[in-house]
Amino acid sequence: MGGAGVSPPGGPGGYGDRSVDARLLASLWCPDDHGDLLAEGGAARCASCGRGFPYRDGVLSFVEAEVLDDVTRREQSSRDAEAAWYDTINTEYTNAVELPAMVERLGLPVGPILDHGAGTGRITAALARQLAQPVIALDYSHESLRLLVGHCKGLDVLAVHADGRALPIRDGVIAAATSAEVYEHFRAPDRRMVADELARVLRPGAPMTISTLNYSWVFRLWRLVGNKAAKQGEHLFGSDFFYVRQTPAEFRAELDPVFVVRELVGIRNIPARTLAGALGRVIGRPRGERLLDWMARRGHRADRALEGSRLSHLTGTFLLALVERRA
Ligand SMILES: C[S@@+](CC[C@H](N)C(=O)[O-])C[C@H]1O[C@@H](n2cnc3c(N)ncnc32)[C@H](O)[C@@H]1O
Ligand SMILES: [Zn+2]
Repeated sequence: MGGAGVSPPGGPGGYGDRSVDARLLASLWCPDDHGDLLAEGGAARCASCGRGFPYRDGVLSFVEAEVLDDVTRREQSSRDAEAAWYDTINTEYTNAVELPAMVERLGLPVGPILDHGAGTGRITAALARQLAQPVIALDYSHESLRLLVGHCKGLDVLAVHADGRALPIRDGVIAAATSAEVYEHFRAPDRRMVADELARVLRPGAPMTISTLNYSWVFRLWRLVGNKAAKQGEHLFGSDFFYVRQTPAEFRAELDPVFVVRELVGIRNIPARTLAGALGRVIGRPRGERLLDWMARRGHRADRALEGSRLSHLTGTFLLALVERRA
């Protein structure tokens, strides 16, 4: 990164052992009046209204001074509380399927990449390594971004603490984007707001991969036997936030008005962890773990191959759409 950067408070180490390049700041704007942001000491300052945006733990924060509604604040603190746990739950197998599924479909974009709802940074790190372009990692959980900064040391990544429904990013500057496992956490009116915001910041024709929870056959069955939470609810895995599982038709119907949908597939089609656990109980845990290892090394190819079939619309844990901003 160049010398036109700004050092975080505390000096080197706070942000990947280097300063933040003003080039990425040029893709952002002041959320109040869309003014330019200038690197200034330990903060970014709006050249037009003078408002300052602080760096905390290497994270550029736009959330702090904003007044969030009660529901958003509750969900945000739930994310902060679960960040360390979330950071451990994606197995090698899950990542062997999901990271290439999200990243390879973007081709070789040139320019700033956005990771929307970046969490603790597994997709962010894959983007920065594989595409070798600067990445804006945006999330409203500061605790998640703090972990992300640690995982992305030495990579060209700017962690941005902001609401994913109102991006502090200029129109049409993003060369490609990912939004992995985030869309399902927005309620219906917010989903449209998010789609419009993502389309606004993408360059015309720029690709984005976006995934959401699939209303797969397992959950359709679960709903049939009376479990309403199979479709949507307010708590997931003991945490306190909204989620919805959508059918491919529902997901497509929401994306279509805003994007050109190039592809819609199911991903994570083989429940490897569940299978390994069940096998482990029958023939011994070490054998179950060997299966999971094998799935991480080789078996994930079968999972990726299923992506190519319509069956994945029923079996995928997530739906993944490759979309482009409409011209
Ligand atoms: C299931 S995690 C996915 C994280 C990451 N994309 C990954 O795949 O590992 C969902 C993320 O969306 C973020 N998120 C949810 N609502 C958000 C909002 N309104 N603004 C910004 N981020 C949000 C959460 O904080 C959380 O980090
Ligand atoms: Zn301003």
